[in-house]
Amino acid sequence: MKAPARDLIARQGVLIIAHRGASFRAPENTLPAFAHALEARADLVELDYRHSKDGVPVVIHDKTLDRTTDAVAQWGGKKLPLAARTQADLEKLDAGAWFDERFAGTRVPSLADALDAIQAGSVTLIERKAGDAATLLGVLEKGGHIEHVVVQSFDWDFLADCRTCDPRCVLGALGTGAVTAERLDAIERLGARVVGWNHKHIDAAAVKAVHARGLKLWVYTVDARARARALVALGVDGLITNRPAALRAAVMPEPR
Ligand code: G3P
Ligand code: CA
Repeated sequence: MKAPARDLIARQGVLIIAHRGASFRAPENTLPAFAHALEARADLVELDYRHSKDGVPVVIHDKTLDRTTDAVAQWGGKKLPLAARTQADLEKLDAGAWFDERFAGTRVPSLADALDAIQAGSVTLIERKAGDAATLLGVLEKGGHIEHVVVQSFDWDFLADCRTCDPRCVLGALGTGAVTAERLDAIERLGARVVGWNHKHIDAAAVKAVHARGLKLWVYTVDARARARALVALGVDGLITNRPAALRAAVMPEPR
């Protein structure tokens, strides 16, 4: 039986979190990127989701389809909004060839399919870009995932809605800029367990302030080995990275 996400969060030592999957090696937010992340033994695998026109949560970062699919080549035009297409339409897109021809034929996954793939070997860090809390909670409930994933967002009202829908939800509050007492007050009020912050704004005082509240601090997006080691020395609890295997080796060298 899978351990609850809150146990993983409470663990001592730094967690390695694959950003959009192992997106240095495979197209971001696709099943191959998630498979590479599991191979890299990522403690968590981050993804982004939004709703299709017919209200299905699908895994993609951008509001538009242009950068990470062949929508423009197939349908013409520019800045094609994802929210204007049904899931059936989105299934016709190639979400891999832009990254490398080896990944041609890769599809935009539904959130439900991505969860099945990731939860088989890791824990999903779900970043909600757009969509309501009730729909997300419905997908999590159906898959039996509620206590086994972490839900994060820059939109803290959305996190509050998740908590209202289901108090078992494990939440992470994303942010950037200064880590102020006011912001930490708000995060505490939400009942979030994790502060997910831009690493550029993290220093010793920020780590201390987060830990003083009994919260964990995960930082995004860190790909440089030296910066990762410096952040671990400061005491961060999680590194969100496009290169999970490389950063694991950098901060936790295997014993000889
Ligand atoms: O995990 C946090 C990080 O993913 C936020 O930035 O733009 O990559 O979703 P973004
Ligand atoms: Ca993200």
